[in-house]
Amino acid sequence: MNRHFETKLNSCAALLLFSAAIFSSCANDDEAWVSRALDTAAYQLDMTAGELDGTGMMPRTAVTGYDVDFLASQLEKDKSAFVDSLVSNPPAENLGRLKPCGIIDWTSGFFPGSLWYAYELTGKENLKEEAVKYTNLLYPIRKFEGSHDIGFMIGCSYGNAWRLSPDDTVKNVIVETANTLSSRFDDGIGCIRSWDFGPWNYPVIIDNMMNLDLLFMASRLSGDPGYKQIAVRHALTTMQNHFRPDFTSWHVVSYLDDGSVEKRQTHQGKNDDSAWSRGQAWGVYGYTSCFRETGDSLFLKQAVNIADMIMERNAAPDLIPYWDFDAPVTDDTPRDASAAAVMASAFIELSTFVPEDGEKYFVYAKNILKTLSSDAYLAEKGTNAGFILKHSTGSLPHGSEIDAPLNYADYYYLEAMKRYLDISRGSDR
Ligand code: GLY
Repeated sequence: MNRHFETKLNSCAALLLFSAAIFSSCANDDEAWVSRALDTAAYQLDMTAGELDGTGMMPRTAVTGYDVDFLASQLEKDKSAFVDSLVSNPPAENLGRLKPCGIIDWTSGFFPGSLWYAYELTGKENLKEEAVKYTNLLYPIRKFEGSHDIGFMIGCSYGNAWRLSPDDTVKNVIVETANTLSSRFDDGIGCIRSWDFGPWNYPVIIDNMMNLDLLFMASRLSGDPGYKQIAVRHALTTMQNHFRPDFTSWHVVSYLDDGSVEKRQTHQGKNDDSAWSRGQAWGVYGYTSCFRETGDSLFLKQAVNIADMIMERNAAPDLIPYWDFDAPVTDDTPRDASAAAVMASAFIELSTFVPEDGEKYFVYAKNILKTLSSDAYLAEKGTNAGFILKHSTGSLPHGSEIDAPLNYADYYYLEAMKRYLDISRGSDR
């Protein structure tokens, strides 16, 4: 088997025609926002790919700092309760600089994935070449047992490579990664273990719903139903234990060895009982995927209930959520554009599964996308440390990535744009 797969310059003629049609049709006035967004995305991604060429690194965010009193006001806590968990404040001269990460980082698949989507949306061949190059960097991850996030890492990179430039190497990486991810599944508990750090016996985070897509894909590619069975068990156990009666979710649920719940807590949200915005986004996205892959109406109902809760609880006037639905709202409350992008992508897919209510999810997502594509959130070309979107929040309680660009905001924004264009230009709706 080849270690690297090659770019197939002539293999995607149909795709390119499709992309060109999308790109040129966006030129009409109604959707000038789409062509401007795609033009910005292509420019930023190409610039960053050049900047990191040969380093073996991926772009993750830009360097940001924090004011500890502001954090205390957002958390409504005394400083002494969280000050020991803060990352150190960077030197002022580093603020705003590109902060790269290595391939072991949980976000390493998003940049190659963004390159794939930008290639698909614009037809620009240079983006495909960069997508292949950055995807290949992740080859060793297929054997990495230290994280549940290999579903994100390989699903977003090799998963998109499989859609747009399939070959046996790509397929084998996806199936090998699913094998590795499955080794973190405990049959007695019914979940994939999320973290190997922290004070918990067996922590599972709502984010882990996002790693299931890789398992579904591996079952389709290999014909082995075992990966899908693990994904379904994980989703069912999570449905039972992660959700409150109002369909908000806890971030972390930890299990004892007998499968009973040890603790329900937060790690990145305001407090244990709050609704951390990105967690709510991961949930609606994950259960929408589960319905797509299984056709089980239980999953659809769960996705709809979470989506309706989001529409009710998201208090931001421009729909880009505050970092936590329960954060005190002031003019300075940080937004989370990454949560908005994940919600938009999920809502567009969900809209195709619910004929009666689909329009309301589609319109909500379109409004999010238009806002993200406005000057308030879309970077000016050549700025924002090379990222596409501004104003995301990684982990406010840790003082980390507050009001920052994030590679996964960019990824889900492009995915949502692709889903939006498929529907608004095509026949899905
Ligand atoms: N999966 C980690 C996060 O959403 O920040």
